[in-house]
Amino acid sequence: MDELRRTGRLAADVTAGYLESVGERPVWQPVPEADRSWLMRQDLPAEGRPLSDLLDDIRTRVLPYPMGNGHPRFFGWVNSAPSVAGVLVAPIAAALNPSCAGGDHAGVLLEHTVLRWLADLVGYPHRPGGGLLTSGASMATVVALAAARQHAAGRDGVDVREDGLYGRPPMVLYVSAEGHSCLRKAAELLGLGSRQVRIVPVDDGFRMDVDALRTLVARDVRAGLRPFCVAASAGTVNTGAVDPLDEIADVAAAHGLWFHVDGAYGALGALAGNAGYLGMARADSLVLDPHKWLGVPVDCGCVLWRDPALTRSTFSLVPAYLRDDHDGGIGWFSEYGPEQTRPFRALRTWATMSHLGRDGIIRLVDTTVRLAQRLAAMIDAAPDFELLAPVGTSIVAFRYRPVDRDDKLDELNRRIPAAVQHRGSAFLTGTQLAGAEALRACLLNPATTEDDLALLLDEIRAAAEIRP
Ligand SMILES: Cc1ncc(COP(=O)(O)O)c(C=O)c1O
Repeated sequence: MDELRRTGRLAADVTAGYLESVGERPVWQPVPEADRSWLMRQDLPAEGRPLSDLLDDIRTRVLPYPMGNGHPRFFGWVNSAPSVAGVLVAPIAAALNPSCAGGDHAGVLLEHTVLRWLADLVGYPHRPGGGLLTSGASMATVVALAAARQHAAGRDGVDVREDGLYGRPPMVLYVSAEGHSCLRKAAELLGLGSRQVRIVPVDDGFRMDVDALRTLVARDVRAGLRPFCVAASAGTVNTGAVDPLDEIADVAAAHGLWFHVDGAYGALGALAGNAGYLGMARADSLVLDPHKWLGVPVDCGCVLWRDPALTRSTFSLVPAYLRDDHDGGIGWFSEYGPEQTRPFRALRTWATMSHLGRDGIIRLVDTTVRLAQRLAAMIDAAPDFELLAPVGTSIVAFRYRPVDRDDKLDELNRRIPAAVQHRGSAFLTGTQLAGAEALRACLLNPATTEDDLALLLDEIRAAAEIRP
């Protein structure tokens, strides 16, 4: 253990040094050929190497080439800076190395607390057995929609686990045009078929059009199909839009649909006092990712549900050697999802939440929402930029629109993100909105300043000057 103790101290220095200097480095830089080759094609050494050599490799060949999140001018996709508390405890979780499938140990007990905290934070009703930490929202969505499928088939007198979907009217899922692709992936994986995923149009604010939802459901009922679930978004990935959750919950209730909410990115936005979140607590299942806005180091997703017994009955398959009646009869976490061996995600999440406290989490959300509003105001005031969507959470969708290049706007905006990334001073990604090429900046890092926002706009202007 002496070697671990010695190099562990060095590793702590390397880690803190990296985090404290991250803002002074390029946000992202291409990997030169020699390092790329080492990273991708090195051979497994025949003899093991000392820990200190590994640390040297990490310092010289790994740390210089980060994805970029962590830097205050990283505005891409939905990837946050890691919380220091999460970084601190990650090696301890590895040292304990439990499987949080179940059993009676700290990893499992702490996961119960973290799930309760997450539910309480966003005002979602919680009972023991009412959630699961997952690898991310994609897996969380599979779990939620599997429960929805089980529920709907059960109401039709069918056990979908035994009988599959054979001979049943196709089950239809309703997702807005701005819904995340993980919803369709889950539908495909669960054997529903993407032809049964109805794409509900959105309004001018990129929110689900509830009248269109009603029309589509009625049409499918008339056609003899089986509408079973509507998946709304509390913070879409493109614009951060929050669907009219309360109205959608009414439609779901009227038609006996499972009401799922994808709050992977945006559920925490409820803390900023946005009335648009009314209705989120009515969801049958809610996905929210601690590894997004909250800053828990990857990976940590989460799914919460209203009815623990139902989700358990969707997945539970307990061989004799795993049977356990601990935890007040709610069983093992592995009975609530597809994973058996499960990592100790709860420690990173617990540490992050404890370190920030409820007030700190609210401040984090408030600060980043205000930064997004500030960026939107700067874009509004600039003659060469155009805002493409209202800013409801902390994502700003916009495009560069210099006065003299009106005709090639799509082409121009399509190549801007890569050009900005290569310049190394800021990082943003693009998307398509209503068929147009768009830029989007996702604000998750409270260390971002107004100067960083101004620099982002200047970087876009400079990148636009680079001819392909
Ligand atoms: C709204 C939304 N839903 C789902 C996902 C998928 O999350 P994950 O990558 O954790 O699976 C994302 C990812 O950005 C997202 O923004």
